[in-house]
This record gives sequence, C-alpha cells and structure tokens, in this order.
Amino acid sequence: MKRIGVLTSGGDAPGMNAAIRAVVRTAVYNKVEVYGIKRGFSGLLEEDIEPLNVYSVADIIHRGGTILRSSRSEYFKTDAGQKKAIQVLEEFNIDSLIVIGGDGSFKGARALSNKGVNTISLPGTIDNDIGCTDYSIGFDTALNTALDAIGKIRDTTSSHNRVNVVEVMGRDCGEIALFAGLAGGAESILVPERDYDLDAISDKLLRGKDRGKLHSIIVLAEGVGNFEDFCKKIEEKTGVSTRGTNLGYIQRGGSPTAFDRILASRMGYMAVNLLLDGKTNRVIGIRDNKYLDMDTNEALEIKKEFDMEAYRIADVLSI
Ligand code: F6P
Repeated sequence: MKRIGVLTSGGDAPGMNAAIRAVVRTAVYNKVEVYGIKRGFSGLLEEDIEPLNVYSVADIIHRGGTILRSSRSEYFKTDAGQKKAIQVLEEFNIDSLIVIGGDGSFKGARALSNKGVNTISLPGTIDNDIGCTDYSIGFDTALNTALDAIGKIRDTTSSHNRVNVVEVMGRDCGEIALFAGLAGGAESILVPERDYDLDAISDKLLRGKDRGKLHSIIVLAEGVGNFEDFCKKIEEKTGVSTRGTNLGYIQRGGSPTAFDRILASRMGYMAVNLLLDGKTNRVIGIRDNKYLDMDTNEALEIKKEFDMEAYRIADVLSI
C-alpha cells in the first residue's frame, strides 16, 4: 500500500472524529502514511488534502462534528467527476481510501473502487438507516440527545397538562423516533415506515387524560410530516392544548457517547487492517454484536429492517 486517504461525507455524525483518529493512529502505528481529505468528495476534487499525523488527531475523540468537515458533491456522482478524483488521488500518491458516511458515500467509494482505488467504508450517520449494520456511528449520541430533550419537554408538558409533539430527524428512516420514543415513554411514535391512524392516536390521548395522565408525548420522525401541522390535527381532534418542538440540528452535534466512540475506534482500526490485508471495496458493520466486513455491492443491497417488535412494545407500554 502506498498511502491512505480518509474523508467524511454526507451529514456529519458524532463519533466521526473518533473514527478519523483511529484510522490515523492505526496507520501511523503500521508505518503507513495517511492524508486527510477535507469536505468529502468536493474537497477531493478541489485537492483540499493534507497529511495527518498522531498530533493532528490529538484531543478530538470527544468532539462532535468532523475535523475533516463534510459535504455532498453532485459533480462527483458523474463519470467526469470520478475520473478527476482518480487523477487527484494519483497526484497525491494515494491508492487507498477510507470513507466515513452514509450509503450515498458508500456508492462514491464503490465508484472509485471500480476505477482501481482500494476503498473501505465506515457507516457514519445519525439516521441509523444502513442495512448492513445494526448501528452506525453517531446514532447512539443522537438518540441520547433526543431522549434528554424529551425528558425536559415532558416536565413542562406535565405542568401544563398538555400534549407535546417532538419532531426528530429521519427523512426515510424512523430509528431515532422509534428508540427515543420507546426510551422516553412516548404515547405515540410516528415513523416513515408505518402509516398512522389519527383517530387511534387521539383516542389514546383522551383515554390517558381520563385516567388522570398529566402529559402526552408524541414523537414524530421528520419524514412523516411537519410537527406544526400535526399539532393542529391533534388539537382539533382532541381539544387538548398541544405544543410542538422540532429538535433539528442539535441531534447532529455534541460529544459522542462511549458507545459511539468505541464503535468508531474499532471500525477505524479495522478499516486500516483490512487495507493492510489487501482487501478492497468493503463496508464495515456490526451485527449481533460482531464486527464484520462485506462487499460494498452486497452491503448496498441490504435494506434496513424496521424493528417491528420494538414498535409493538412501545405501543403496548403506552396503553
Ligand atoms: O444526517 C442525516 C440527516 O440528519 C437526516 O435525518 C436529515 O434529513 C438530513 O440529514 C438533513 O441534512 P442536511 O440538512 O445537512 O442536508
């Protein structure tokens, strides 16, 4: 192997820095040079690249965001963009690339792999929407951020005898909503993977109110719709004072949890070792508590399975 490049791409996620640190330190330990590519594939095309060493990644394991920064590049998706990327990698003598991001980033890595670059991809997204892994880097932190906010919202919701609709991130995937809702004791959880029944949700709220319940929390994934519209619907149907909160980008930031730091450290370490073993076009994941790697084509074919059991449990427990 000549030289490793590392980049973060797509929406950032807490723990990406811990992954970069693990990649750099494992490479240095093995006497392999490593270069940081800034702003994802856009930075690659613009030659925004610099060498990294043990000191470049000091004091970052606990930091949110990504020191390499991130972007989404439309031009990179074209054949011309990918040819240009290959040219730049050759200029910098980089023959191996570690990509940290979501499935869009995996597709980018696969395209470069098909053009001869050794690539390893790590799942990094708060959405946890990647089928080949039970957990992606950043999900646990985002989940805990959402849970902390739900706890605070619950306090004021009880004081005022209200309903509060909490919108969390997740355009196509309800993982944050499902697990923040389950852990936060939400009365209803709305996810893009399942249709919802407004009458049933309203009846449940009114039943709870009749029993003397002081508050109701509804967790809504952004892919289902806007929280303000949903608040209006609930208030109209039930007559109960309803407020809403969009947690927004606070879910993407913050210091990573221990879980995310460990996941990122192990995956970053594994990525370099796979390259040292001559592997390419692989995605790393964790399934049933075991770390694994698989072919990128295979990984991209796997659809995230919706955890119906967790969804049912949350429903039963919020009777
Ligand atoms: O990181 C994933 C995600 O947060 C989605 O849940 C959300 O829809 C999207 O990214 C928004 O990202 P941006 O505004 O940066 O495009």
